[in-house]
Amino acid sequence: MSFLIGQPLDALDTPSLLLDLDVIDANLRRMFDAGKQRGVNVRTHFKSLKCGGLARYIKERGGATFLAAKLNEAEVLADAGITDILIANQVVGAQKMGRLAELARRVQLRVCVDCVENIEQLSKAMSKAGATLGVLIEVDIGMARCGVLPGDAAVGLAQRIAKSPGLRFDGLQGYDGHLQLIADPAERKGKSEEATEQLVATRRLIERAGIPVTIVTGAGTGTWEFVAGYPGVTEIQPGSFVLMDCVYHPVRPEFNCSLSILTSVISVRPKWYNLDAGSKAISKDFGMPAIKDHSTEAVTRLSEEHTKVECEPVPVQVDDRREVIPAHCCATMNLHRQAIAVRKGKVEAVWPIEASGRYD
Ligand SMILES: Cc1ncc(COP(=O)(O)O)c(C=O)c1O
Repeated sequence: MSFLIGQPLDALDTPSLLLDLDVIDANLRRMFDAGKQRGVNVRTHFKSLKCGGLARYIKERGGATFLAAKLNEAEVLADAGITDILIANQVVGAQKMGRLAELARRVQLRVCVDCVENIEQLSKAMSKAGATLGVLIEVDIGMARCGVLPGDAAVGLAQRIAKSPGLRFDGLQGYDGHLQLIADPAERKGKSEEATEQLVATRRLIERAGIPVTIVTGAGTGTWEFVAGYPGVTEIQPGSFVLMDCVYHPVRPEFNCSLSILTSVISVRPKWYNLDAGSKAISKDFGMPAIKDHSTEAVTRLSEEHTKVECEPVPVQVDDRREVIPAHCCATMNLHRQAIAVRKGKVEAVWPIEASGRYD
């Protein structure tokens, strides 16, 4: 694909996944500068990206620490030269322990836990392999997914981790995922601070029991500014801010959409047209995508290989092009094998999306 470097967008086949590097640069600058000003580390969530070349690009611009949702994402990050990785989830099962130990020997690796059984399995595997794994306790601060409830349960687990061979207790993760898309900023702020206070209170309980806590992390793109700088929080872990999408953008207008799918018009009718990509290339789990720079053209349906766009009059002809802004950037990255990185309308790099379609 190196023959594409330097080519204009017209030279690309469709559909193609595009990343606008100037927009990415501005999004990174905004988030990393704010992190510095507020004295918190920004740990970029790789589940939104899944692309090793993009992780390297972010590292070169000051974001050296990453979050991964799954072990395979952590492996892709390590292969891309990232050396500080937190898996934001529980890694469970004999089949994964060998991979985890091998990775823990290559990079500074951490995982989340929320029960004793998992701590025992991790400890046994790491001791056997002669590896050391950093461990954070996941605290459920209202999302009701994984995690222990704030308070004493976390103290018990911290004590257990602290005396487990092969493990090092590093701190707490509490993700306020249920708050990310609340439209009213004041309501989002109030609820996010309330949730974060529970996380920080749990930190204080563990410290009172004599166990040092070095990392307290949480937040996503929707709540980053309420958690960054909250006393007792050391990190934030947003991911979508890099790429954005048409659902997140109204919630966080300070970050712009850098991800789009370049498509071609394949059919024109009096009141609508169809593009050559559908739900197999543009995720619809968060709703309908938008047409970039053409707000009067409304996407009304995604079939597997078609996007139907309604407008009157129809301003396109067959073989015209449109860029589609997905409603969910993370799920869209997971549908593609390569990303075309562009700057000022020309291809600058072509990156494989190594972790797309992987769930292990
Ligand atoms: C554990 C965890 N942390 C952080 C995030 C933040 O992601 P985003 O910035 O895409 O909202 C997520 C999103 O799913 C998550 O699951």
